Amino acid sequence: MYAFKIKGGHPLKGTVMIKGAKNAILPLMCAALLTKEPVQLNNISYLSDVQTLLALLKSLGCQADEQPDSLTLKAETLTSTTASYDFVSKMRASFWVLGPLLARCGEARVSLPGGCAIGARPVDIYLEALEKMGARITIENGYIVAKGQLKGADIYFRRISVGATHNTLLAAVLASGTTILRNAAIEPEVTDLALMLQKMGADIQGIGTHTLTIKGVSQLDGVCYRVVPDRIEAATFAIAAAITKGKIFMQGARLDLMMAVVDLLQPSHILLTQTEDGVWVDAEQALLTAVPVKTAEYPAFPTDDQALMTTFLCLASGEALVSESIFENRFMHIPELRRMGGTIIDVNNHSVYICGKKKLSGATVTASDLRGGVSLVLAGLAAEGETIVKRIYHIERGYFELDKKLRALGADITKIDIPL
Ligand code: UD1
Repeated sequence: MYAFKIKGGHPLKGTVMIKGAKNAILPLMCAALLTKEPVQLNNISYLSDVQTLLALLKSLGCQADEQPDSLTLKAETLTSTTASYDFVSKMRASFWVLGPLLARCGEARVSLPGGCAIGARPVDIYLEALEKMGARITIENGYIVAKGQLKGADIYFRRISVGATHNTLLAAVLASGTTILRNAAIEPEVTDLALMLQKMGADIQGIGTHTLTIKGVSQLDGVCYRVVPDRIEAATFAIAAAITKGKIFMQGARLDLMMAVVDLLQPSHILLTQTEDGVWVDAEQALLTAVPVKTAEYPAFPTDDQALMTTFLCLASGEALVSESIFENRFMHIPELRRMGGTIIDVNNHSVYICGKKKLSGATVTASDLRGGVSLVLAGLAAEGETIVKRIYHIERGYFELDKKLRALGADITKIDIPL
């Protein structure tokens, strides 16, 4: 089993490349199922979640040309419409093949994902939307079996859901007639999917708003598309620079996608500046200051950045409440931060109250989910002494060569093989 060994206390300095967003690459890969022609995605990295979805798409009959910075998928003929439990249990985003498979083939059999480390994460809203579009859905042996020719419908999502918006959009582009998605998610990755589908010939109005109007077309073309930069990876490096009082340039990053994070870093005198090809983070004069954090749908503060900010707050002066409004169980990293000396006064399912102090101390800790795991790496970068972060396979789902990127910025971090 691999772990990260970190010796804290080195200010990060230099340039880091921010690649395409994991949360965009995955739905964009699913969109390849909608056309017989090649879909080329540029600016990607082969995170383990990308590899899992790639294996699933190949099992459905997709061909893939894997280049270091790009991936071309071609779903000329699909040989299967089943997404097995092995894939979906490994990564929930595998469930998003449901909409495009149903739209293209008139049937799909996709394993139900079940819960995960951060919450129950039901899929009822996805299924209601497809049923409204005429799908007949049954549950058989742990699988969703969906059948039918999809037709346009007026759909109101009773809760904003990124996944349900992706999945329904992927179905609606090939449905007959007009579909209206109301209360749709407006996360940049949803917008990226809509923009790529438009480039493939889909007729979508209202991109970037909560109401998407989709006129179904009979077929979509291939496309060559550059994936939107990863705002969560950028926030991770920005916070890493902040807590080590460093100065870094995040090549390829976009500040406009991470304004909720910028707002929280500003009181700490951390300067973030957009240039033509990236974002500067200057934290050399930083005085980390506690600020309240409340996660909510975009453009509010992202749930994916919540764990990262808890590490920041452990090191900031003052006290602050962190409220999590998207998931009911996203504080699994908190007991581990406590073991590193974080003063977390109160924790329940929806909030934690953190009393910041100047220092954390290195410890052996265990990642229990992707972002929670990275919050422990951040803590290690700022802590006194040595930190070992175990179970880094969670982290590698969403970060490509994180240790290498941090090392290039001057961090003392190595990937080590440890006994189970
Ligand atoms: C969510 C985040 C996304 C983040 C991802 C991984 C939001 C709105 N979404 O997306 O930014 O990148 O986690 O951390 O911040 N729900 C239902 N029924 C459904 C679908 C969703 O009750 O059918 C609930 C979920 O349990 C959750 C909320 O709606 O409480 C938002 O879920 P959703 O946006 O679908 O989750 P993800 O797509 O995983």
